[in-house]
Amino acid sequence: MTIDSKPALRPDFMWGFATAAAQMESGSKEQDAAAGKGDSIWDYFCEKPGAIADGTKVSRTTDFYTHWKEDLALMKSLGVNSYRFSISWPRVIPNGGAEDPVNEAGLEFYDQVIDECLRIGMTPFVTLYHWDLPLALYKKYGGWLSRRIIPDFERYARLCFERWGGKVKHWLTLNEPWVVAGLGHYTGSFAPGHRSSSEPWIVGHHLILAHAHAVKIYRDEFKPAQHGEIGITLNGDWVEPWDESPENVQAAQDKMDAAIGWFADPIYLGHNYPASMRKMLSDRLPTFTPEELALVHGSSDFYGCNFYTTNTIKAGCVVEDEINGNTTLCFDRPDGSVIGPESDLGWLRDVPWGFRKHLNYLYSKYQKPIYITENGYAVKGESQMSAEDAVKDADRVTYYRGYLDAVRGAVEDGADIRSYFAWSFHDNFEWASGLGPRFGCVRVDYDTFERTPKDSAYAVSEWFKKNIPAESS
Ligand code: GAL
Repeated sequence: MTIDSKPALRPDFMWGFATAAAQMESGSKEQDAAAGKGDSIWDYFCEKPGAIADGTKVSRTTDFYTHWKEDLALMKSLGVNSYRFSISWPRVIPNGGAEDPVNEAGLEFYDQVIDECLRIGMTPFVTLYHWDLPLALYKKYGGWLSRRIIPDFERYARLCFERWGGKVKHWLTLNEPWVVAGLGHYTGSFAPGHRSSSEPWIVGHHLILAHAHAVKIYRDEFKPAQHGEIGITLNGDWVEPWDESPENVQAAQDKMDAAIGWFADPIYLGHNYPASMRKMLSDRLPTFTPEELALVHGSSDFYGCNFYTTNTIKAGCVVEDEINGNTTLCFDRPDGSVIGPESDLGWLRDVPWGFRKHLNYLYSKYQKPIYITENGYAVKGESQMSAEDAVKDADRVTYYRGYLDAVRGAVEDGADIRSYFAWSFHDNFEWASGLGPRFGCVRVDYDTFERTPKDSAYAVSEWFKKNIPAESS
């Protein structure tokens, strides 16, 4: 089938752009304070010397707080039918805890955003937790290190379901728990910046339990009347064994288990973690009680997939790397060739064929409808380009066309794929990399906050015009 023949996607396929509150809401520290927003662990992390590559701060990003209406209108003008965004926990409950006061101004901000989405015909797809833990909870009990977070997360989730569940029918509990546990508590490269060989596994366990408890609340108390769906979204790249040797083939699976199986195997398969992780970590890896596993198993209505790149994988590693299954991540092959061109970030290359394989792997292993909740690219050197050059983002256009064709290919292979959200709508705060690397399909001038669509915004829009059939056909 060619791109111009029959469209392969479902008529109700959801497509749009993805963002996260911490990366794009704030215009200034003063604005946050005036809006009653509490600090998150990222405000704290940004104060650590050297933590953010360019020294920028999460309290001054792209000012969606002011520009939300114009941003939603711009998305709509590109033809999207949905928008994935996150709620900032410290904006709605500044101190985060189950007994702490709610910030009505924070709730009203999201009332406006959700109402406007619906008014202009964009389905809201809402993430509860995209890494901005209220700082007060970290100070009180170490955040995700303590089980005390579970009732606090439950109360936050319940508040969101109560307030918006009549309008929001697609919920994500957590974005990428691997990053929270692994980069937040193993490498220390993300907030809260811990380097530990024991903490990530405990944090991961609490993340899974908090997710499952929130899902139970939704299903028991809200779903019967609200009829929405809820799940988790996981990161994880495609892994290609470096060569066909049994140890590299095994290493590729170990890496997949550490990145995805850590969370997906308990949630979708009811396993008490992957065997390779148990072998690697022994009793550093917690164990679910039978009651906990019963709660966790089946706690996601769909498979939420964030996907960016592919690695070739070799067995073993020079420096211990347990969050990657103690393997070595490469981009080369035995013949010296590389699998894709460089982007602006060391971990990301454009390897479209890996996406089709990845989607087929996820669908056959976990057997759930797949929502692609993030996919995108940072063009090499874009931050040094003039605005005029940056909007001619040919490398990003190539990336999106290749990856979108891979999505269509996986659908043709039989995978049930129901959404695609490009990361990201506009350039924004790229966590520890600050405002350097740009992932937007829309350029942001960080001095004036002016927005300008790049060529990729139109290319993605065109692709979907051709590939989603009209509802009536
Ligand atoms: C994801 C994350 C996003 C975004 C993206 C690009 O892991 O969910 O917030 O930063 O990566 O690095």
